[in-house]
Parts: sequence; C-alpha cells; structure tokens
Amino acid sequence: MAKMAASAAECGEDAFRKVFKFYKRRNPPPDFSDVVDFSTGAAGDKVVPAKLDPAAVSDAEAARVGLQPVRDWRAFGLQGYPGFIFISNPFLLGSQPFWVTQCLKTYPKKPNVCNLDMHMSPSDTQDIWGKSIHGLSCPPSGKREPKTLLERLRWVTLGYHYNWETKTYSANHYTPFPADLHRLSSQLTAACGFQGFNAEAGILNYYRSDSSLGIHVDESELDHSRPLLSFSFGQSAIFLLGGTCRQDPPTAMYMHSGDVMVMSGQSRLLYHAVPRIVPAPQGQTSLEVESCGLRDNTAMEQVPEQDWAVCSRYIQSSRVNVTVRQVLGLGQGFPATPSRRQETDAGWTNSYHQGPAEVEMKRKRSSSCDSVDTET
Ligand code: OGA
Ligand code: MN
Repeated sequence: MAKMAASAAECGEDAFRKVFKFYKRRNPPPDFSDVVDFSTGAAGDKVVPAKLDPAAVSDAEAARVGLQPVRDWRAFGLQGYPGFIFISNPFLLGSQPFWVTQCLKTYPKKPNVCNLDMHMSPSDTQDIWGKSIHGLSCPPSGKREPKTLLERLRWVTLGYHYNWETKTYSANHYTPFPADLHRLSSQLTAACGFQGFNAEAGILNYYRSDSSLGIHVDESELDHSRPLLSFSFGQSAIFLLGGTCRQDPPTAMYMHSGDVMVMSGQSRLLYHAVPRIVPAPQGQTSLEVESCGLRDNTAMEQVPEQDWAVCSRYIQSSRVNVTVRQVLGLGQGFPATPSRRQETDAGWTNSYHQGPAEVEMKRKRSSSCDSVDTET
C-alpha cells in the first residue's frame, strides 16, 4: 500500500487520475458495474432522494421551457456529496429536440464564440449549421469525406465568454446570454431551492464517441455560492465526481440524454471529469422515442422536420453538454484592476487570436483545462 502510494506520487499519479484512466481505457474495456445509474437504480447504494420545491415553479412555467411538472421529477442526492443534485431527465417527452437544435443550430451562431473561431475567419464560422447540413444529411458514401464544421465543433461559449488561456471571464467580452436557456436555468435552479439564479455564462461541450474531458474544478466564477448547472443531450457519458483534492477517489455515474446535474454548496468546487462517452441505453431513454416523431406533448416551438433529421443523426454518435454558470454575485462587479491572470482588453484579443497549433496544444497538455479532448 505504502509502496503503491509512493510510486503514485513519484509519477504524479493521484486517485482521481487512476479512476479516470480506468474508465477511459479501450483495451480491454473497463468493468462498468460500479457506475451509478440514476435512471435504473443500478450501483445506487449511495443514492438518496433529493427534496425539491415544487411550489417554486408552476406547471405552465415548467412546460414553457419543456420541463415536466416539478412534482414528477426524479431528483437524487449522493451520500458524501452535500449540495449535489441529479435530476433524471426532467424534460417533457418531445422537448429535447428543441434544446438539441438550439445547441447545434442556434447557439454556435455569432456573436457566440466557438473553437473554430481560433483558426478560421469570422466569415467561415458565420454559418456552421448551413455549411454542415448537406454533409450531415447525405448517407455516407463509403469514401473518406472531410468532416463538416459541426463535426469539428468542440465548444461554444455564451454570455461572459470563458477565456481558456487566462481561465477568467471579463466584463469586456460579453454578449447577451440566450433568453430561452436563461429561463430554463432559472426554473431548474428555483425548483432546487435557489431563487434568483442569473445565468451569465455558458459552456457547451461537443463530444464525439472518443472524446473525454479532463479532471478539473470550475472555480473561475466569482460567486461560488451560486450553483452550477449541467445538461446532457445525445449519447451518454461516464461522469466522475471527486472531492476537493485529487487524492479523493471519485464516484462514477452515467449521464444520459436529458439528465440535469446541479453542483451547489459543498459540491460546487469538487473535482470532476468525463473520461468516456458511452452509447445511450437502448429503449430505455427517451432518445429513440424523441427521434420517432412523438413530439406533440410540448408547449415548445416545434423543430422543423428537416432540422431534426440533421440533429438526430448528429446525436446518434455525439453528446452535447451545456453548463450554465452565474459568474457574479448580486451587485458584484469584476475587479477594477485586472489580476495578473486577467488580461487587458488588448492582451485578451491578442491571446484569443493565437495560432491554432498553440491553442490546441495548450488545451491538450493541460488536463485541468475545461475543453474536450479527442483521441485521434
Ligand atoms: C464543464 C463540465 C461536464 C460534462 O463543462 O465544465 O464539467 O458532463 N462538463 O460534459
Ligand atoms: Mn466542469
């Protein structure tokens, strides 16, 4: 045991990293029997029911953003993780296509920022959706075809745009946060007992089947008393939730399409990661049902059939995760003098327009960087 700990320290290994590598492994594939599945109750010895506030959100308000009445939500906590709330797909049947379409067609549009902006001109990243639909609609020709822009999309930022280099948000890089996602976030957090949550920044991560997200803590927001929200769509993921230090072994859980996670209180600043994308369970999630055209049970805008054809094809092999953050506390502003890591406007612009190789390398090198890595 002591020997093992010493060698782990020597090569910079930690308990979290070990588990991360275990679930990331391809050959032989790992044993998934310890992965908590909130949808089935599997490996659920630490799972406890979570209390919600159904009176905080009316059924009509919930339906307006595509959510079931709060009394019907299945919400859970995890022993040892106070403030962590897992809501097993609270969406109304038929409303996920709306949110998936927002993530693929609407939110990547300007003025929002995405990874492709780092090495392409604004005119080239202007219409990611329009430039991708042909390639995504055609059945595979058998030949190796160039990837569409949508397939090369890795992240999009909303509101206060996260600066991956300095790991900060700043007042001078802000564009309006999408009103619909703001409303969805307000309803969800209100039901969890957080009144007045103000969605100010969003990070969308786009995962292919071989992508992963490194071990990190989300601490760049200035008010950690506000919860962090996470929505998953498409294929499933193994999510690891650890402790306040890397020595704490994490708990592994599945995130399926429609699942929502709230990290608040003592769980707001815990290490976490996504070591692996796994196929959505067959016949169990609403994903297939959503794809079958059973889409009338919703107060939401209907997604045009041809848009959904593209989106459903995309999510057959991909996962989209949306995290929503409140950056500033009530009445709080950004510090007047930029801290050492927070650059001036000019400096920010320069680092933002760095060459692609440099940005990509930095992202890949740092396991604590909030960006999706793809094995190639
Ligand atoms: C993040 C994050 C988790 C996920 O974007 O900070 O932790 O499930 N995402 O993709
Ligand atoms: Mn995170």
